[in-house]
Amino acid sequence: MVRINPSILAADFANLERDVASISNADLIHVDVMDNHFVPNLTFGLQMVGRLQEVSTRPLDVHLMIEDPDRWAPEYAETGAYSVTFHAEAARDAVALARRLRQSGARAGIALKPGTAVEPYLELLPEFDQVLVMTVEPGFGGQSFRESTMPKLALLRSAVMKSGLDIWLEVDGGIDEETISVAAEAGADTFVAGSAVFRSDDPAGRIDLLRSLAEQHSH
Ligand code: DX5
Ligand code: ZN
Repeated sequence: MVRINPSILAADFANLERDVASISNADLIHVDVMDNHFVPNLTFGLQMVGRLQEVSTRPLDVHLMIEDPDRWAPEYAETGAYSVTFHAEAARDAVALARRLRQSGARAGIALKPGTAVEPYLELLPEFDQVLVMTVEPGFGGQSFRESTMPKLALLRSAVMKSGLDIWLEVDGGIDEETISVAAEAGADTFVAGSAVFRSDDPAGRIDLLRSLAEQHSH
């Protein structure tokens, strides 16, 4: 099954409720939390996410680009996020943290920057509900998709198939009508798109288009 998760990083921050309502055909709403330490950009935090969850008809897919997720991530789960994804590079104990997220009722996700190898995480897959392969350097929307990250997806897809686990494989960064097919063919089933959705006159139509392209190219 294909999922399209628009990133509100590209939405109008003064009109988030309106913009979220304009994409009711999205699967989840992707929320990029940045702390100006793990990445050189600052967005929103716990209170914003809690309030957004109250007004959104779609579940939230929270992507934490923060230092010390061991300390902060569980609070995002407790505030009602459907999934909470933290960075492998930032976590002290990724397995313990994933277990705490699941105990709090969220899906547990782990994210890998473009330069982070996936191999050490393959044997830990049963601990996670989703793996996020960053297809740009985290921090900003509107960057170009890095095809060099696709071999990681292929490795993940074959490990997931072998394990028989139902783990979402998500890509984030530079996903548009061209690149979504490349990522789908490599094994992704969950697609974050910021600019491609919100820099369009018809965000909902763009979601439908991305979904059908991904479906055509998925395994
Ligand atoms: C980047 C964020 C992405 C970003 C994607 O650090 O994690 O979710 O919003 O934006 P686009 O789709 O414009 O590359
Ligand atoms: Zn993101």
